[in-house]
Amino acid sequence: MRFPAQPWLPALVCSLICGKALAVPYSEYIYAPASRTVFPVSIYQVNGTINNATGLLNGENGTVTFSASSAVTLDFGKNIAGQVSLAVGSSVYSDDAVIWLTFTESSEWISGDSCDATASYGVDAPINLPVGHGAGTYTVDRQHARGGFRYLSLKNNGTGDIELTGVSVYFTAAPTQELQEYTGYFHSNDELVNRIWYAGAYTNQLCDIDPHYGDALVSQVDVPLQDWYYNYTITNGSSCLVDGAKRDTLVWPGDMFISGPSIAYSTYDMDAIKNSLESLLLLQTSAGLLPYVGVPFFTIINAVSFTYHLHTLIGMYNYYHYTGDEAWITQYWDQFKLGVGWSLSNIDGTGLMDVTSSADWLRSGMNGHNIEANAILYYVLNLGVELAGVLNDDASSTNWTASAANLKVAANALLWRDDLGFYVDNETTSMAPQDGNSFAVLANLTMNSTQTKAITSGLRARWGQYGAPAPECASTPATVSPFAGGFELEAHLVVGDATVALDLMRLQWGDFMLDDPRMTNSSFIEGYSADGSLHYAPYSDDPRVSHAHGWSTGPTSLLSRYVAGIQLSGPAGQTWKIAPTVGDLTTISSGLATILGSFAINITADGNGVITSFSVETPAGTSGDVILPSGTTGSLTSDASGQTVPLVYGTAENLSGGLWSLVSS
Ligand SMILES: *[C@@H]1O[C@H](CO)[C@@H](O)[C@H](O)[C@H]1NC(C)=O
Ligand SMILES: *[C@@H]1O[C@H](CO)[C@@H](O)[C@H](O)[C@H]1NC(C)=O
Ligand SMILES: *[C@@H]1O[C@H](CO)[C@@H](O)[C@H](O)[C@H]1NC(C)=O
Ligand SMILES: *[C@@H]1O[C@H](CO)[C@@H](O)[C@H](O)[C@H]1NC(C)=O
Ligand SMILES: *[C@@H]1O[C@H](CO)[C@@H](O)[C@H](O)[C@H]1NC(C)=O
Ligand SMILES: *[C@@H]1O[C@H](CO)[C@@H](O)[C@H](O)[C@H]1NC(C)=O
Ligand SMILES: *[C@@H]1O[C@H](CO)[C@@H](O)[C@H](O)[C@H]1NC(C)=O
Ligand SMILES: *[C@@H]1O[C@H](CO)[C@@H](O)[C@H](O)[C@H]1NC(C)=O
Ligand SMILES: *[C@@H]1O[C@H](CO)[C@@H](O)[C@H](O)[C@H]1NC(C)=O
Ligand SMILES: *[C@@H]1O[C@H](CO)[C@@H](O)[C@H](O)[C@H]1NC(C)=O
Ligand SMILES: *[C@@H]1O[C@H](CO)[C@@H](O)[C@H](O)[C@H]1NC(C)=O
Ligand SMILES: *[C@@H]1O[C@H](CO)[C@@H](O)[C@H](O)[C@H]1NC(C)=O
Repeated sequence: MRFPAQPWLPALVCSLICGKALAVPYSEYIYAPASRTVFPVSIYQVNGTINNATGLLNGENGTVTFSASSAVTLDFGKNIAGQVSLAVGSSVYSDDAVIWLTFTESSEWISGDSCDATASYGVDAPINLPVGHGAGTYTVDRQHARGGFRYLSLKNNGTGDIELTGVSVYFTAAPTQELQEYTGYFHSNDELVNRIWYAGAYTNQLCDIDPHYGDALVSQVDVPLQDWYYNYTITNGSSCLVDGAKRDTLVWPGDMFISGPSIAYSTYDMDAIKNSLESLLLLQTSAGLLPYVGVPFFTIINAVSFTYHLHTLIGMYNYYHYTGDEAWITQYWDQFKLGVGWSLSNIDGTGLMDVTSSADWLRSGMNGHNIEANAILYYVLNLGVELAGVLNDDASSTNWTASAANLKVAANALLWRDDLGFYVDNETTSMAPQDGNSFAVLANLTMNSTQTKAITSGLRARWGQYGAPAPECASTPATVSPFAGGFELEAHLVVGDATVALDLMRLQWGDFMLDDPRMTNSSFIEGYSADGSLHYAPYSDDPRVSHAHGWSTGPTSLLSRYVAGIQLSGPAGQTWKIAPTVGDLTTISSGLATILGSFAINITADGNGVITSFSVETPAGTSGDVILPSGTTGSLTSDASGQTVPLVYGTAENLSGGLWSLVSS
């Protein structure tokens, strides 16, 4: 059993049970580096004359001579984050010698003269690192530690030779983590699916930063070469969660809807989530409105976002759900209630929330009685009822139960269209959004299974060569949003179509988002076009797109939660529901750890969703249900007591913690 080092985990308990960390299962799939000192692994390109360029690779520290006007592009083999150091030898042509550094996540933006972009216009300026003051190590200052890059180019732009004897990067992401000490794992017979799970986990590590070095949006001036640095303190504490590794490096609540659970199932860095949520809660208005984004961007745009407001409330629920930190949710309960009250105060005579501000994930048409916003509100009301139950707040529970029921009736009466088999974005349009329809299914805003089948098959029918489009992001070609796509994956899983969800993961997250040569092959891009171009419609500046975005990491939690089926129903897994839907996979081994201990599952299946062997282990003192596909026969046997519980329609209820295995009849 391994436990995460959490400040609120009493040191005494940890000293008794943490012990020596066991080997992390399947650690060979982890993209995070073993050491915080990282080296390039291959040469992408050499321009001009560089003697012995390969001496810069793998920490070999060979003697490498850059002639005048030469440049090399180094490939780290994956996206990384950090502070570059150059070891300079004794032969440098002048005191004024400079090495120019440029960074890019995608190979598409390699240049000796500029980086990819963090601002809205142009590209980012190179860093010039003076190296003419004698042999030794020269390090870029901390505020220029680049948040995300796979390629680093070094250019000698001077008139004589410069000798380097090494290049290394100090990895700055996930500052409080032991980088490879994952608490969760997922492995199956499908290598592409395995890589997707680990790339999602790693993307969230890249988006976990030291809060003193936030905010890359420092320059909004329309000049071709943008100045860039990261030095704004965006939260308290020692780590926080930002939207993207390269940019915006800001706390955005929407992104956490996806990244929060994926973190819970992989690294369990719940402290980063807590620090981020607290930075948003500080900005709540007296009317209850929560911010669209954290500081300092908050003061620049200060937009009202009906959806991101709700995402902070979901984040609060998730933090409590995965940690069981009741003191925390109690401390912030009045703010949660105030937040729900703000949303309810925007429900008008139709029974639906009337959205009066367009700010969302940069989709179009976020206004009026919008289905996405109302589905999220329905979801939040139900989470609120659950929390109110924990905190014995009967008045809130009663109000939110009734409010949710009313909202459901109104949404189905006004926004459901039997002829389309979809909800429309609002009652004035026939556009059926990916985000709102998917959210309606995952939130159970639907009244019947005819609707859920129509929605999920309708969404499936829209897929193109590179993934699932989001028509609510009005653009030609259509936009592929791995954020809204994460909602769609969950919708397919909620209705039990694991094969469809796995197919979408392979098509979009695997074949394209990992394996396309313009990607980092290790982290997930923020958005792109349905024609496969790396143009994300909300931005005019293509180099700006982020290749490590927390909101694109949905598959990580979804594979663990729905495909392996490890669901925590009570706080931190005090109660649980093990309900695998394996799709076409034939082997699955997965687990996670919370403060209560480890959860692990092993499954073999026939490739058609029928489970042939199954075992699950949960922490002592917990309890829960096992729900296998309804045709599964036999019984579950407890390893500890020998007790046998027959499966009834695949289900065995109220099992105690410990190891249980399927014995077929
Ligand atoms: C080139 O680099 C290698 C290390 O990769 C080193 O062993 C060798 O000495 C270097 N050669 C020269 C000529 O400096
Ligand atoms: C090369 O230099 C780096 C950075 O100083 C160091 O970590 C690494 O151990 C060195 N490699 C060798 C082979 O000495
Ligand atoms: C090397 O040259 C190619 C072709 O001119 C150019 O596209 C590339 O940006 C150059 N790379 C560097 C690091 O200067
Ligand atoms: C290279 O030198 C030229 C001329 O001095 C200068 O304009 C340019 O900004 C320098 N930097 C890079 C990265 O090429
Ligand atoms: C951040 O860096 C910029 C540029 O060096 C500087 O002007 C600014 O004062 C710094 N801000 C903080 C909060 O350190
Ligand atoms: C840190 O916490 C203090 C006390 O709540 C608060 O005033 C301050 O704004 C916080 N800083 C950030 C960056 O959230
Ligand atoms: C309804 O939705 C469409 C499509 O998103 C949008 O263009 C329009 O502005 C919305 N209308 C209202 C009244 O919100
Ligand atoms: C819930 O409480 C609000 C006041 O906070 C009130 O306006 C609303 O009518 C109540 N809703 C229901 C369904 O009880
Ligand atoms: C989903 O909604 C339907 C229709 O209102 C209801 O019968 C069902 O119990 C709900 N499911 C869950 C899991 O709440
Ligand atoms: C399912 O619910 C929708 C929305 O209330 C309704 O229009 C539809 O007729 C229902 N379908 C069935 C088969 O009950
Ligand atoms: C991505 O990495 C995998 C190993 O993780 C490798 O097999 C594959 O060739 C790489 N794909 C690309 C396009 O670099
Ligand atoms: C799953 O399989 C692994 C490897 O055989 C084994 O070490 C582990 O104990 C198993 N766990 C469960 C819950 O069966």
